[in-house]
Amino acid sequence: EKYDKTILITGGAGFIGSHVIRLFVNKYPNYKIVNLDKLTYAGNLFNTQDIEKQTNYSFIKADINDKENLNAIFKTYQITDVIHLAAESHVDRSISGPMDFIQTNIVGTANLLEIARNTWKENPGVFYHISTDEVYGSLGKEGFFTENTAYDPRSPYSASKASSDHLVRAYFHTYKLPIKISNCSNNYGSHQFPEKLIPLMIHNIKQKKSLPIYGKGDNIRDWLWVEDHARAIDVVFHKGKLGETYNIGGWNEWTNIDLVHQLCKIMDEKLGNPVGTSAKLITHVTDRAGHDQRYAIDATKIKKELGWIPSITFEEGLEKTVVWYLQNQDWLKNVTSGEYADYYEKNYN
Ligand code: NAD
Ligand code: DAU
Repeated sequence: EKYDKTILITGGAGFIGSHVIRLFVNKYPNYKIVNLDKLTYAGNLFNTQDIEKQTNYSFIKADINDKENLNAIFKTYQITDVIHLAAESHVDRSISGPMDFIQTNIVGTANLLEIARNTWKENPGVFYHISTDEVYGSLGKEGFFTENTAYDPRSPYSASKASSDHLVRAYFHTYKLPIKISNCSNNYGSHQFPEKLIPLMIHNIKQKKSLPIYGKGDNIRDWLWVEDHARAIDVVFHKGKLGETYNIGGWNEWTNIDLVHQLCKIMDEKLGNPVGTSAKLITHVTDRAGHDQRYAIDATKIKKELGWIPSITFEEGLEKTVVWYLQNQDWLKNVTSGEYADYYEKNYN
């Protein structure tokens, strides 16, 4: 087998990673795509089922904290490039237990950097680190996060991602490791684990359960369709400049309460409910500790320099997302019941 590149994609069984894997496996038959994932509660192989038989794809169950194993994988597969998405990703979990975030997001990233630096001495490939807008902290009513905004992370999750971003940049300056970083706003779309706002609300509306809004619900997030994030990752990987950072966002700010009302409206239509039925389920609950008020990305750089813009509107994306969840109730059942663990045992062991 001769491939132009052999790309290690970490976290490819998770939400965003699975979309990146799907895009790369289908679009680049000349690349070998190696998906490395620990399969934590957030990762499952139902997310990549449609491409798992393709010859340019392999899956390896491994932990980025297991340095020896990573080293062996780099050598065995002759990894030429890395796109690093594996992480603990949920802010609320980082508040109740920060240590897994510190271990995986900081130490795990450092392990990958060390192995790339030591293995790629002759002919280094691209080490592309996927990060978040949360590293920039919280905005008031005005302004946007640009690539030059000072880091000001406020949760254990965002602090762990900020640390990993700093390490990645340090490897560029100190060791000339060819890195790229992108910091993206909130993603939504198919295959997102139902602890995150949008799938949680869709699921609860369907089950007629209460819809927990943290605090007043006036916090603002900038939402981007996950497949547009995957397209941006493709563009940065191929055309982005080494050592640089690209902010990715949807120019699409919503307060949580308005967004949940919008979801209630779509769900009432889909379920044939009288207008206003689902909104009655909205319940204000205790606010998240240290809850960031507003995120908003200025994505001018990636637009101007690399020609990327989102491909669909929020209305279209939200509609597609609701339809996907309603049509994939089995997926929801599997990922919340642990059946994906049996699936792995059956298919890969
Ligand atoms: P996710 O939680 O859905 O998926 C994370 C994946 O990483 C899972 O498959 C999990 O099994 C795997 N993983 C976790 N720990 C691991 C370890 N120690 N070794 C190997 N694999 C491990 O997360 P996501 O929402 O898809 O986010 C992916 C990346 O994108 C993360 O780095 C996150 O910080 C970043 N990001 C997410 C968003 C968002 O809105 N979800 C926005 C910007 C950036
Ligand atoms: O901005 C990018 C980040 O977006 C990513 O880096 C993270 O990995 C991802 O989880 C996401 O973080 P958020 O904290 O913004 O996403 P979450 O879906 O947890 O919450 C979105 C908003 O909704 C936030 O203001 C908290 C609020 N919320 C969330 C939940 C789960 C509620 O009001 N009720 C809820 O039940």
